[in-house]
Amino acid sequence: MPIIETHNLTKVYGDHKAVDGLKVTIEQGRLCGFIGPNGAGKTTTIKMLATLIPPTIGSVHIGGHLLWPSGKRSLVARMLGYVPDQFGVYENMRVWEYLEFFGLAYNIPNEERKQTTESILELTDLYDLGDQFVLSLSRGQQQRLAIARVLMHNPKILLLDEPASGLDPQARIELRELLMELQAMGKTILISSHILTELATMCDDLIIIQSGKLVFNGSPAALRDRVDAGRSYRIRVAKDMEKAASHLKQSEHVASVEPENGNLSVRLKDPFPGEGYISAILQRAGMHITLYQPEEPNLEDAYMRLLDEVGETKGSE
Ligand SMILES: Nc1ncnc2c1ncn2[C@@H]1O[C@H](COP(=O)(O)OP(=O)(O)OP(=O)(O)O)[C@@H](O)[C@H]1O
Ligand SMILES: [Mg+2]
Repeated sequence: MPIIETHNLTKVYGDHKAVDGLKVTIEQGRLCGFIGPNGAGKTTTIKMLATLIPPTIGSVHIGGHLLWPSGKRSLVARMLGYVPDQFGVYENMRVWEYLEFFGLAYNIPNEERKQTTESILELTDLYDLGDQFVLSLSRGQQQRLAIARVLMHNPKILLLDEPASGLDPQARIELRELLMELQAMGKTILISSHILTELATMCDDLIIIQSGKLVFNGSPAALRDRVDAGRSYRIRVAKDMEKAASHLKQSEHVASVEPENGNLSVRLKDPFPGEGYISAILQRAGMHITLYQPEEPNLEDAYMRLLDEVGETKGSE
């Protein structure tokens, strides 16, 4: 059974659908990237999952329990660790006090609370900073503390809203290592971002939304296949590159021909006309091919193309 399941999840503000009929499932133990451009509805969706705001219509089940409509909010909330996109301000608290405070709020008994605090400080690599004031921490350290705080009650599921935003590359790596560790502990993690490449290499699954609607739900490899399927080639010919480009442009299965570092980048249309299609055209034109190389699909390009495709379909409705 999926640990998170939504059906027709919809949130309307005024006459604007911030989230529009989302049907997603997340399996237990997965690290799932939740991606979409600004305003796509990520935060709104996460807040509904986090028990904080009710959907206008649709249902949510978490851990096998109904959350919305009229479900077990407090029971579900105990299974969740939610880190919002803004860090709360507790400037006059030390790091360990901050965690103690949330441990108390979760009713963790005294002895256990001390142990929990220490092991979480260790896990999040904040142990040596325990006596520092929260506001004196770097952004990356604060972000890890925000995660540390929601680990105090040992939740099964983590909902992290843009935890990597504003982090430098080193802090991103540290965050990624922490997430991998949490996943290895068996936690299910949903992490949002508007930057696909930030998540694609570490996530098992991707959920992509645009204008509140589901655009894609599957593995990073499936995303590459869906949008690119190895249908771009890097080509060079011995003499007349312009002639080669013009022959290719006139061919019915060629989507685009772009000059790129002295080569031609040639994209074929879907359905794929076959491995030898481009070489046959060039040979028929009497051209000598000196480079013929399938291009590794670039995931960010794939993502942008996917959003474009969906945008265009919507525009023509
Ligand atoms: N409380 C609210 N009242 C009215 N409109 C809202 C409210 N919250 C969000 N919206 C609108 O809903 C849409 C989705 O917003 P949301 O914050 O969920 O997007 P997001 O994907 O998290 O964007 P970002 O990448 O900028 O964080 C936006 O058009 C936003 O203006
Ligand atoms: Mg947001």
